[in-house]
Amino acid sequence: MFEYEESELRQWFLGFPRGDQLWREAVDGAVIAREIARRAGEDEALARLAFLARDVGKVFWPDWLFERRVDDRALLYGHVTVGVRTLEGMPAFAAMPRLLRVVQQHHERWDGRGYPFGLAGPEADRLAHVVAVADAVAAMTRGRPWAPPVSLERAAEVVAAEAGRQFHPDAGAWVRDLVRGPGPIQRAAGRGETLRRLPSQL
Ligand SMILES: [Fe+2]
Repeated sequence: MFEYEESELRQWFLGFPRGDQLWREAVDGAVIAREIARRAGEDEALARLAFLARDVGKVFWPDWLFERRVDDRALLYGHVTVGVRTLEGMPAFAAMPRLLRVVQQHHERWDGRGYPFGLAGPEADRLAHVVAVADAVAAMTRGRPWAPPVSLERAAEVVAAEAGRQFHPDAGAWVRDLVRGPGPIQRAAGRGETLRRLPSQL
């Protein structure tokens, strides 16, 4: 499902200098998004596609923002709205209102302290909450410029601790047995660590 949309998106990402890296990370995270959507009783295929599409706005970021040498909140937060506008301009996505809504809301938080609108609780689409949890698990297990990668177990603990605050109240249940899920999850979650180790092994 959504093979055409996914291939259009991939082509689009690969047209930018950072696109290859962003696409590979998105594909890893999409495995996790799909599993969490299944546990949440949400549309798995749409969860995967929304996850792949969520950060299209980041291709326009300068290197210094990727590396967080400077925090520019306008650019950082702007990737959401820029991403939605970009997708609206793509024929494959222009007529997918729920996907556009999920991309628009993927940084909203259950407690209303997210961005760009500060939507609280069920004001944001439940699938956006699913994508937000998957995004957090993928980012934590991959590691970030300011934080080393953590295990899938640890990432699930962090999500559970933030259920009802940063994340949907059911988020703890969504990730509880993630670690016992199929191999693709373990590989997707562990890939950041593998890549991170490589330079020192060379
Ligand atoms: Fe994002």
